Amino acid sequence: MLSNTQQSYGGIARAFHWLTALLIATAIALGLYGASLPTGSDAQAAAAIRVFSLHKTIGIAAFGVALARILWALTQPRPAALHPDRRLETTLAEVVHWALYGAMLVMPASGWVHHAAQAGYAPILWPLGQGLPFVPQSAGLAHAAGLIHASAAWVLYAAIGLHVAGALKHALIDRDATLARMLRGVAAGQPGRHRAAWLTPLAALALWAGVIAAPVLTAAPADQTAAAPAPMPQTAQPGSWAVAEGTLDFTLRQMGAAVTGSLPRWTASIDFDPATGAGQVTVTIDTTALALGAVSDQAKGAEFFDTATHPNAVFAATIAPITAPHDAADHDTADGATHLASGTLTLRGVSMPVTLPFQLTVAGDSAEMQGRVTLDRRDFGMGASYPDEATVGFAVEVAIGLRATRTAPATGSGPAM
Ligand code: HEM
Ligand code: HEM
Repeated sequence: MLSNTQQSYGGIARAFHWLTALLIATAIALGLYGASLPTGSDAQAAAAIRVFSLHKTIGIAAFGVALARILWALTQPRPAALHPDRRLETTLAEVVHWALYGAMLVMPASGWVHHAAQAGYAPILWPLGQGLPFVPQSAGLAHAAGLIHASAAWVLYAAIGLHVAGALKHALIDRDATLARMLRGVAAGQPGRHRAAWLTPLAALALWAGVIAAPVLTAAPADQTAAAPAPMPQTAQPGSWAVAEGTLDFTLRQMGAAVTGSLPRWTASIDFDPATGAGQVTVTIDTTALALGAVSDQAKGAEFFDTATHPNAVFAATIAPITAPHDAADHDTADGATHLASGTLTLRGVSMPVTLPFQLTVAGDSAEMQGRVTLDRRDFGMGASYPDEATVGFAVEVAIGLRATRTAPATGSGPAM
């Protein structure tokens, strides 16, 4: 029998039940194990990342199975309680069932939102992308979803504890067919004696509303601090432009999945003459402010940016307009670059020639630029103990965008400084 009756769980309901139990137990074990792992060294962080990638992948599988299970349950009769006369016990069992149905959805959904809102860290092991539509990158949202995930886990532990204790009580003390109904599909109970109680799903719904609302409400201030732009002090010089706002992001592949980090603190001293399209720029980047999701500390460590020894990176370059077509062809300027900034990037104490093609739009005393360049981490001695691309890719795409306003007229003759 595949379908339920008033007295028995059919094969499909039982398969769904035990598959859910297996996936959820595995997700819990991996979540707790992963959270207990040290992440001090790169090798330790890599091991923890593998555990969390597995945790997330199994959690999403549990989500899919739970959705299918719920759709199936909606089409099925629910077998009657075996002892409807024991009102308190029957009500408790039902509240726990609804709490478990809720946990099947809230646990993976909160984990997934946490993952999608936070740049980087252990990827889901699938080719379908790491983000979620309608979930923006936001530290505050990731934090709130993480709190929901952690507090919902406690509801899940309590519900599973009561659920398993109840099943064992039926099997060992009452010696009735409750467990056998779910294990082997035997029929038991008297249909018709059980009234549908509306209070039990409502009680579980209220419980889940509380679990979800509490972290969201308490995390709201954190969201505001996370969204506040980092101050970027600028020094105005004659003939110069001051950066009003800007972003400096980098994207790399971690275990094959693209992750984006940011360098929120940098200053730029720009001298540029829109009439000739020539100028000079020096960008000084505070590498200690680097953010790369949950692996920011690893990225700042000796193996990568080594911010303790090299707290700054500097890009000093000469700006020139792209005139000859071969300029554009040489630098992969498919996205409409109008200028080149050619100079030296000093990162981690290593200086390398770097040419950044960028698109510039000047309107009066305001200018906007967007540029991107792909670097190779090995050129700067980064990630020497990751000689292949399995964990961390070689290519790092740097994207810079800024809006600047003119603080003094250009000096005129040639590339000025
Ligand atoms: C070893 C662990 C588990 C055991 C021994 C167990 C046992 C049982 C038994 C015997 C029933 C039937 C109850 C009845 O007929 O009134 C049941 C129902 C149920 N179980 Fe479990 N279970 C386990 C784990 C889980 C887990 C991890 C979940 C989900 C997170 C879960 C969710 C449910 C739900 C929602 C029902 C009610 C199904 C319905 O009637 O709609 N169980 N379980
Ligand atoms: C049935 C599904 C799931 C269950 C039962 C589950 C359970 C858990 C548990 C027990 C922890 C450890 C909590 C702690 O003590 O720190 C955890 C952590 C975590 N889970 Fe899940 N999880 C599930 C699905 C997911 C999914 C789908 C994702 C992401 C796509 C995810 C992402 C995470 C992350 C990132 C952490 C670490 C949180 C932190 O360190 O703050 N989980 N999960």
